[in-house]
Amino acid sequence: MLDLGQKKNLPIGFMDSGLGGLSVLREAVRIMPAEDFIYYGDSLHAPYGTKEQEEIRELTFDVVKKLLKQGIKGLAVACNTATSAAVRKLRSDYPELPIVGIEPAIKPAVMNHKNGRILVMATPMTIRQKKYQELLERYNNQAEIISVPCEGLMEFVERGSIDAEELNTYFQEHLTPYLSEDTETIVLGCTHYPFLKPYLKNFLGDSATRLIDGSLGTSMELKRRLGEKNLLREENRKGHVEIINSTGRQDMIDLSYRLLEMPVE
Ligand code: DGL
Repeated sequence: MLDLGQKKNLPIGFMDSGLGGLSVLREAVRIMPAEDFIYYGDSLHAPYGTKEQEEIRELTFDVVKKLLKQGIKGLAVACNTATSAAVRKLRSDYPELPIVGIEPAIKPAVMNHKNGRILVMATPMTIRQKKYQELLERYNNQAEIISVPCEGLMEFVERGSIDAEELNTYFQEHLTPYLSEDTETIVLGCTHYPFLKPYLKNFLGDSATRLIDGSLGTSMELKRRLGEKNLLREENRKGHVEIINSTGRQDMIDLSYRLLEMPVE
């Protein structure tokens, strides 16, 4: 058993089906610069968003077990799909471990709602899940909220080099049918999508549509949960980030560090 001091020195674990969770990790690094992080991207099994719940749960548990073996003091399931499929069971199997998940940022979208439409872009699996449907039910009497399943979109990030024209065609086919003059907010309900923000903004042109995601909120919640257990490190050091990718490929690791450095806005 580790004492509190030893536990404090452990890294914080992050996981995602691939590189998307890095959009959450970069916020966490920004608000907890003294912490060490270990990020596991399961690109070998990506995408999760088109698989069935049981398989996603198994894959998520496999990754979490690997992180626990390395030693972590907290866990961020930085994947909306894995969160909806597995977070409840993770919390019940590891009650001592502070665990945060991520869900599409519908609540903040509704809180800032004026009168336009809110679109939620997410994986087909996230949208099918009961957890998501319950979230919708909680808010859809306050705003018009439309779910947009985006099969195939995370792959643009995983591939590393983005073909802007191909991505525009994707938006044209998958997003345009849901867009209207009064589209007020688009919620990026998959952690891969924030990396596509500049392209999406470009696609939307001069429209005043806001793009929001849950990465900062999730990181703040993680910080709060660790603080509550007195597990945050002193501020007088600079932490480091270790990245593991299940493909074992060095180019995926290099791409991961590049994404992590990408400016948030
Ligand atoms: N990054 C994941 C999410 O937030 C999903 C991508 C996938 O389909 O694996 O939902």
